[in-house]
Amino acid sequence: MLYPLIRPALFSLDPEDAHRFTLAGLDVAHRLGLLGLLPRAAGKPVRVMGIDFPNPVGLAAGLDKDGAHINALAALGFGFIEIGTVTPRPQPGNPQPRMFRLPAAEAIINRMGFNNLGVDNLVRNVEASGFKGVLGINIGKNKDTPNEQAVDDYLACLDKVYGHARYVTVNISSPNTQNLRELQKDEALDALLSAIKHRQSELAQQHGQYVPVALKIAPDLDDAQIAAIAALLMMHRIDAVIATNTTISRDAVAGLPNADEAGGLSGSPVRAASTRVIAALAHHLRGEVPIIGVGGILSGADAAEKIAAGASLVQLYSGLIYRGPALVRECVQRLAR
Ligand SMILES: Cc1cc2nc3c(=O)[nH]c(=O)nc-3n(C[C@H](O)[C@H](O)[C@H](O)COP(=O)(O)O)c2cc1C
Repeated sequence: MLYPLIRPALFSLDPEDAHRFTLAGLDVAHRLGLLGLLPRAAGKPVRVMGIDFPNPVGLAAGLDKDGAHINALAALGFGFIEIGTVTPRPQPGNPQPRMFRLPAAEAIINRMGFNNLGVDNLVRNVEASGFKGVLGINIGKNKDTPNEQAVDDYLACLDKVYGHARYVTVNISSPNTQNLRELQKDEALDALLSAIKHRQSELAQQHGQYVPVALKIAPDLDDAQIAAIAALLMMHRIDAVIATNTTISRDAVAGLPNADEAGGLSGSPVRAASTRVIAALAHHLRGEVPIIGVGGILSGADAAEKIAAGASLVQLYSGLIYRGPALVRECVQRLAR
């Protein structure tokens, strides 16, 4: 309720400053117990990937890359929190400015480039949080790791986060790490998924616990590419697919201020493309691999559209910037119907 009043002040700041300021404010509000006063919707619990989620509405990756704000974010009413993308070694990301608002389209363009403090720091943050809810950890590769060695980066992260996550997301769909999305192609994806699956079963033995792995894909894929990815997901028994990341298309925002900035576009303009990928995946996967739907959810109805297209869970990012925490409640409520 307060957010529409605060938003103009936040939007007067540089987007990355607003981001830092908001997260710091949330942490303070959480420590003071104020977030517990937010109205809560009674969520409908769901079981996906063998995990019990208190409600199907999650926080998408990228907002809390280092897992430094887990408890405050969870207090907004999410059913699960995905932190990361984290890389094996710390890296600064791209030069600033690298995040841009397109308010007329309720959209964001970012080219952050996996700025993060590295996987060891993230694991320390997770331990310190004592978080008991459903936590996903999203892993990637360092910028200076060539694609031929990308598998090593994913395995290094998987080893370190395995004992701290309820599920792990393999992110091969950011447009802001050069050639990363090439890993979505047949042979590269086959090799990556095979290595991940092999290590997952070793780790399951070592830890005495099976931690599901999800693959996060881009919206900029044609039907043949989606069919090929779906076949590999089933063949390698990957536990879930997250659709989608940001888009490199600018069709929906052409001519708007900031539309020509390089990076991935998110928010309302990616909604239809994301839903199209979810529907195509659902067609090919026939219920064998659950789908987590993300991209352009700015209302409860948008969340319901993802579920109707075949998703079992949804995630939010840009909608939070435009609608604030009330969006979480609206989606939880709508999906409990
Ligand atoms: C500023 C920003 C940073 C992001 N960083 C990541 C990231 O590190 N890893 C990732 O998998 N997705 C990242 N994303 C993508 C979101 O998780 C989500 O897939 C995408 O924005 C579409 O959802 P939305 O329209 O609700 O924002 C980022 C998105 C934004 C806007």
